[in-house]
Amino acid sequence: MVQIIAIDGPAGSGKSSVSKQVARELGFGYLDTGAAYRALALAVSEGWVGSHESGTGQNVPNLDEFEYSISLNPSDFWVKVGDIDVTETIREPRIAETVSSVAGVPAVRAFMRELTRSLVLHSNLPGVVVEGRDITTVVAPDAQKRILLTASEEVRLVRRSAELSPEVAKNVESQVSSRDAQDSKVADFMTPAEGVTLVDSTNLNFEQTVAAVLEVIRA
Ligand code: DC
Repeated sequence: MVQIIAIDGPAGSGKSSVSKQVARELGFGYLDTGAAYRALALAVSEGWVGSHESGTGQNVPNLDEFEYSISLNPSDFWVKVGDIDVTETIREPRIAETVSSVAGVPAVRAFMRELTRSLVLHSNLPGVVVEGRDITTVVAPDAQKRILLTASEEVRLVRRSAELSPEVAKNVESQVSSRDAQDSKVADFMTPAEGVTLVDSTNLNFEQTVAAVLEVIRA
């Protein structure tokens, strides 16, 4: 059976780069679950996927039109919608601005939960590090190891800004805070659920954070 290492955390906690490195060191796959939400937001905005109104007036993407694929190789990462490589496009600020509203649709969350489980189950790998907002609680509550990776808001803002160009960085502060606020409506990603180990990386550099996460996994 494939081992699951579940890692949750807020925007800018460093969970993507840390999870990738942890996966490499363990010889496991790496699954970025936020990429699917981003790809869906892109697909809707480009009109590759249509949408309809739910009974409650919410705009729901036509999920059966969403042809999604993703690499689980931490050293050769790509994301596709149909034949289109969207690895870079889904990181554009315009996607960060719209993704939370897509992620707030209950039908989308149910679809993503099943998509994630199916990707892991059919991975043919010894294990997968699965990273996101609700992995430890909703998607894989029975994972072998469950970790919540956090950092103070101040440190998260600095880290996010350092990844981006200066023009983009000035919008990041409000973006990270408002995404945290929006995302926290659908998943509590700041408080560890029962059985979930908290790793606070506020005072740790990248290598130290990777080491702290590996220590939890090997404990
Ligand atoms: O981790 P990220 O920034 O790539 O996530 C993009 C968006 O998707 C973010 O608004 C939160 C949402 N998301 C989610 O709701 N559940 C997940 N498991 C992963 C991401």
